Amino acid sequence: MTQKGLFNKINGNFKNKDIVSLRQFDTKSIYKLFKVTKKMADIAKHAKSSNILKGNIVTLLFYEPSSRTFGSFAAAAKQLSGHTIEIINPTDFSSVSKGETFEDTIRVFEAYCDLIVLRHPEKGAAQKAAEIAKFVPVINAGDGIGEHPTQALLDLYTIYQKFGKLNNLTGLFAGDLLNGRTVKSLLRGLSLFSNNIAYLLSPKQLKLSREDFDDFKKSGLKLIEIENKKDIPKNANFWYWTRTQKERFKNKKNYEEVKNKFIVTKKVLQDFGNKDMILMHPLPRVGEILPEVDGDKRAVYLTSEIRNGMYIRMALLSLVLGKIK
Ligand code: NCD
Repeated sequence: MTQKGLFNKINGNFKNKDIVSLRQFDTKSIYKLFKVTKKMADIAKHAKSSNILKGNIVTLLFYEPSSRTFGSFAAAAKQLSGHTIEIINPTDFSSVSKGETFEDTIRVFEAYCDLIVLRHPEKGAAQKAAEIAKFVPVINAGDGIGEHPTQALLDLYTIYQKFGKLNNLTGLFAGDLLNGRTVKSLLRGLSLFSNNIAYLLSPKQLKLSREDFDDFKKSGLKLIEIENKKDIPKNANFWYWTRTQKERFKNKKNYEEVKNKFIVTKKVLQDFGNKDMILMHPLPRVGEILPEVDGDKRAVYLTSEIRNGMYIRMALLSLVLGKIK
């Protein structure tokens, strides 16, 4: 077995690369991924059998709860005839509960498989795992309040599918912008393309950290913070609504104070939206978009956004495992 190179820029070549952050991407790599994603959608939609990942084993190592990310990675591997080792909540149900170190757990699983997908409550855990694993690539499925690159890639794909471009777009980001990792990865993704504007709507306590704000601004993204729904721009191409991240609050009273400050109802969509936009949400939602909105054709969170998650993950697994060039 050859040693892999450590997590670094993709530069159009995904083979054996760890996928830890949107920082590793450039526009060329994103478009390459989209091209493969389109092929994957064709395989999945028509239930074509594919052996692209035949013989491959993917470990899904999830230290935090997950339904979509876990389910779609498992489905992605299986659609392509790959196998999965599924470890959910190792802190309770595996040697980790006996006191095994993170380092040992990663070393053990890399011996059994060809790729590790990791979700972990600590920011930086995916990078740490990428450094520990000497032979197999690691894909970050969410590291605490850090990043969630595969969610951002499927969100970018959903936007691209609708508008045919990823530049000159105006987006609205609402909810927990301080703790939401999907928000940070998507903002970083948008900052790779030119002339994008992001309006940021959140309670004061959940504003993007100043560090992130300055960082995105430096990378060319125009950011506009607002505190009131009436300041939502009429011309937004998409709304990216998010949940208040309860598990990141030390004090539950503080959570109760800020949760669901901004809720999408039919009326909100009618008053502040426009007919060509899309309404996105990484899910799970816990009250911040009312079910009465679900049937609106602009709502994509239970339709294309979900399906694109599996297609993007099929593409990423195939590219990183070197099965598609
Ligand atoms: C997100 C996450 O885990 O960060 N969920 C997901 O993977 N789609 C969003 C969230 O939990 O709010």
